Amino acid sequence: MNIIEELLINKKKSCTPIWFMRQAGRHLPEFRKIREKNQNFIRLCLNEELSSEITLQPIERYDLDAAIIFSDILIIPHALGQKIDFVKNKGPKLDNFEINLLNKEKKFFLKELKPIYKSISMTRKKLKKEKSLISFIGAPWTLTVYMLNLKTDEDKLNQNLFKKHEGKLEEISNRLVEFLCIHIKEQIKAGANLIQVFDSWAGLLPNNYLKPLCLDANKKISDFCKSNKIPIICFPKGIKEKYKEFTEFVNSDGISLDYEIDPLWAKKNINNVVMQGGMDPRILLESDDKIYREAKKYLDIFKDVPYIFNLGHGLIPETNPEKLRKLVEFVRGYK
Ligand code: CP3
Repeated sequence: MNIIEELLINKKKSCTPIWFMRQAGRHLPEFRKIREKNQNFIRLCLNEELSSEITLQPIERYDLDAAIIFSDILIIPHALGQKIDFVKNKGPKLDNFEINLLNKEKKFFLKELKPIYKSISMTRKKLKKEKSLISFIGAPWTLTVYMLNLKTDEDKLNQNLFKKHEGKLEEISNRLVEFLCIHIKEQIKAGANLIQVFDSWAGLLPNNYLKPLCLDANKKISDFCKSNKIPIICFPKGIKEKYKEFTEFVNSDGISLDYEIDPLWAKKNINNVVMQGGMDPRILLESDDKIYREAKKYLDIFKDVPYIFNLGHGLIPETNPEKLRKLVEFVRGYK
């Protein structure tokens, strides 16, 4: 068993493993070189050789404890047949949603995703056995935000559109869970060791919808993983003090803290789950001293409990790889 898997399953601390959300891509010059020659982002995700190469780039550079497979949460709407474009500096743009996309036959859905599974098995073979290969999905609500275009350009909930679709959101969520569980199972079958669930827009949900659209959906996925012995880390970004209720209800093996969560509060209030991350990725734009001070804060607080070092959201594209290398060194050297 690799280090992170063992930590998630046995919950016994022997060291502090380290990896970063969004470590593959964006901030790495070696990624940008490949990206320049591959303008279609979805096609790049579905190119198994290049996807595997990009997945391993941050491992070669920083010797991290886990690789996260190079793909995207939006590969799911793509595989369901919803056309998607990545517009430069504007983010993803999806064609209009139709409910019958969710009637896609499972075998055709899987056919679209085959290159990801191939990339996973190729990558697993190249990775040292003590390192984890992380696969991931977007949680149903976060996928719904993109599929139904429920977010404004200012990253607020589009109230009118939300009201318009309100009546069918639970059904969409349940149908997505089915496809997502299939994708999880295939990724594990191909050689991935654990799964991270990104609910990046959980914080947009109105209070009365948090339970049905975030907690219930994450629990169904967590239950599926538990019954298949698949280690799972959840990331319900932006739900503030509801992190406590989330972990108690969903019962995943790990919980990724976002940068708004006070780590001291988390240590006191969140139990029986391995904690991960928390440090603001923007800190990496500051001086070395500030970076070390902030990292030490998290390491000190979680010194005696199982903890995976990571950030409170993905690495931002402007991150200097040299600063990241120094941070990794600092975390490795921390006693
Ligand atoms: O973590 C990794 O490095 C593995 C690969 C990965 C990508 N996206 C590659 C990617 C992972 C795990 C994701 C997750 C993802 N994708 C999330 C959840 C995590 C989070 O950050 O909240 C979300 C919300 C998306 C959707 C998405 N993909 C957006 C909004 C965008 C465009 C804006 C942006 O952030 O770049 C993407 C594109 C994307 N996905 C890129 C990469 C490397 C950039 C592509 C480019 O070069 O233009």
